[in-house]
Amino acid sequence: MGTTAGSKGDGRRILVHPLAVRITHWINVIAMLVMVMSGWRIYNASPIFSFKFPVDVTLGGWLGGALQWHFAAMWVLAINGIVYLLYGVIAGHFKANFLPLTPRAVLAEFKKALHGKISHEVGVYNAVQRAAYVGVVAVIVVVVLSGLVVWKPVQFQTLGALMGGFEGARILHFFAMAAIVLFVFVHVVMVAIVPKTFLPMLTGYAKRAGEGHGS
Ligand code: HEM
Repeated sequence: MGTTAGSKGDGRRILVHPLAVRITHWINVIAMLVMVMSGWRIYNASPIFSFKFPVDVTLGGWLGGALQWHFAAMWVLAINGIVYLLYGVIAGHFKANFLPLTPRAVLAEFKKALHGKISHEVGVYNAVQRAAYVGVVAVIVVVVLSGLVVWKPVQFQTLGALMGGFEGARILHFFAMAAIVLFVFVHVVMVAIVPKTFLPMLTGYAKRAGEGHGS
């Protein structure tokens, strides 16, 4: 995207998603799936609200098993996330692809989308995509930090105090999960609406024809 789009590739194809973004994106998807499904099983053992998640969509079989999955995938999620953030900052990926980002542009793009017009130019994220991607990255940082407090409340008590203590961190962790699940739902629906965005996220390349973006 941005700097990458148009900078590499042959006459007909342009590099839309650099390898580092593709690898970290798909590792994140797998780690997040394990985290959410095992997290739902852990939640069921001691629900915060008056509902439980259906056992069929949970992972781990029982509390102990779910905790093993959660703690294993946690390292993958966190280390992969750090690699993505470092790459994003050092290689200029965030600056080139997520900026500029203004509330006015997001609102204008959102209004267009409501009228069924979604911008999809090869190699450029529209303002709503930029806001959604920056937002979900921020929420993933929050889910990891609140998870640290729930995991080790004594060691991370200063961070915990900022979240209203152990219970506050648990509630924050839950709502951050809910925001991520909501993002993924809308994100996947958008990919289904604009399916030509899918292959470039696997291969890196898109046709140069001047069309083809917007999930
Ligand atoms: C935990 C789940 C997911 C998260 C947090 C996530 C997040 C993101 C982010 C942040 C980007 C922008 C990447 C960048 O340029 O730095 C992105 C792009 C993309 N994601 Fe996901 N994603 C998730 C799941 C999925 C799934 C399940 C699919 C497959 C249907 C998918 C398909 C795509 C595609 C096709 C793009 C490129 C969109 C475009 O070029 O317009 N993502 N995703």
